[in-house]
Amino acid sequence: MADGESGFLPKPVPHVWAPPVKCQGIKTKLVDFIGRSVMWNGNGRWVEPFLGSGVVLFNLCPERALVCDTNAHIIKLYQDIQSGTVTPRIVRDFLTENGARLARHGDSFYYDVRRQFNDEGGSLRFLFLNRSCFNGVMRFNSKGGFNVPFGHKPMRFSRAYVTKIVNQVARAVETMAGRDWVFKTQAWNTTMDACAENDFVYLDPPYIGRHTDYYNQWSDADAEALARAARDLRCGAALSMWKENKYRENGHLGEHWTGYVWRTFSHFYHVGPTEDLRNQMTEVLAIKPGYESTAGSELRQKDTPSRIPRRVSISPSPAQLGFVLRDASRARRGSSVAGRRALATADAVMVSDKPATKPPRPRSRKS
Ligand SMILES: C[S@@+](CC[C@H](N)C(=O)[O-])C[C@H]1O[C@@H](n2cnc3c(N)ncnc32)[C@H](O)[C@@H]1O
Repeated sequence: MADGESGFLPKPVPHVWAPPVKCQGIKTKLVDFIGRSVMWNGNGRWVEPFLGSGVVLFNLCPERALVCDTNAHIIKLYQDIQSGTVTPRIVRDFLTENGARLARHGDSFYYDVRRQFNDEGGSLRFLFLNRSCFNGVMRFNSKGGFNVPFGHKPMRFSRAYVTKIVNQVARAVETMAGRDWVFKTQAWNTTMDACAENDFVYLDPPYIGRHTDYYNQWSDADAEALARAARDLRCGAALSMWKENKYRENGHLGEHWTGYVWRTFSHFYHVGPTEDLRNQMTEVLAIKPGYESTAGSELRQKDTPSRIPRRVSISPSPAQLGFVLRDASRARRGSSVAGRRALATADAVMVSDKPATKPPRPRSRKS
C-alpha cells in the first residue's frame, strides 16, 4: 500500500541521464514527471513489464526491481552488463576497433555487422547497430531480424562518441551495483502475474497500431487485455500513454483507464525547423488511486529551470471532471510576465530542461 509521502516516491529527477540503449517511445523527457507524480513507499519491487531503454528504471533507481521486455536483445545487454560479461573497457575496445572499420568501409561494414548479429546475436553488436543505424531506430522484421539501414555516418564512432557510450555503460554498472534488479525476457502478462502486494508496476506499452515490428505488435485487443489485467493488480500501478495532439485524441484512454488519477504532461515536438511547425503532444500518466503524489503543492515553478517552458498540468480523470485541456496558445502566453503569473497560480506547472523551440533561421539577405 502507498504509505504517505516519506517513502521512495515521489522524488524529483532534475538531471536525467541517458542509458546506453536507444528505442522508440523512450521516456527521457518524462522521467522527472513520473518520479514526481507517483507516491509509493518502495517496500516491494519496481516492476516494468515494458522496459525498453530502461531510462525510467535507471533514473528512479529503486533498490529492488523486476524489469522485463520481449526484446531479448535489450534484456541480454543489461544482463551482460550486470554480470560483468560486458564492461566499459570491453565496450570501448569493441567500438573503437569496429568504429575504425566502419570509417574505412562504410555501409558494407555496417551490413556485415548486421548480418552477423542476425545470425549469432551478441550484445556488443547490438550496441554497435543501435548507435550507428538510421535515426537510432530499433526495428525488427517478421522473423526477428534487425532491419534498420545504416545511418550514413561512417565516422559515427569518433573518440568522443565512444567515450559517451562507454560512460553510459559505466553509469549502468555503477547504478546496478548492490541493487537487487532482475532482468527477464518475457511477455507483459507473465510479469504482471508475478507482482506482489508491495510492488509498484510502471506500464509503458507500445503505441496501439504504431511502430509495429517483431517486438512491438500491439493491437486494440492487447491494449484492452492490459487495462483489464491492471485492474486486477493487488499493488500500485501507473500507465504512460499519449493523450492527444492537435489532430487526434486517444480514445482508448477515456474508454479503458477511467477511475485512475490522470496527470498530464505536454511537450512540443518539431516537424520542421521553424516555430510554426512545432506541435504539442500531451501525455498522460494514469495512476491507480491512492498512489498519486500531491504534486500540485510539491511542484512549483521556482523549483524548475527558467528557460522556455514545457507544461505539466494536474488534471482529474474524465470520470471525475471531464477532460481538462489547455491549448498551445495558453502555453505561449506563459512566456509573457502576465501569462507566467497566471500559470504559476493555476494548477499548471512549468518544467523545462531544454528550450521548446529552435531559434528561427536567419533570412538570406539576397534581394
Ligand atoms: C514504449 S516502449 C517502452 C519504452 C521505455 N519505457 C523507455 O523509456 O525506453 C515499449 C516496449 O515494450 C516492449 N514490448 C512490446 N510488446 C511486448 C509484450 N507483449 N510484452 C513485453 N514487452 C513488450 C517493446 O520491445 C518495447 O521495448
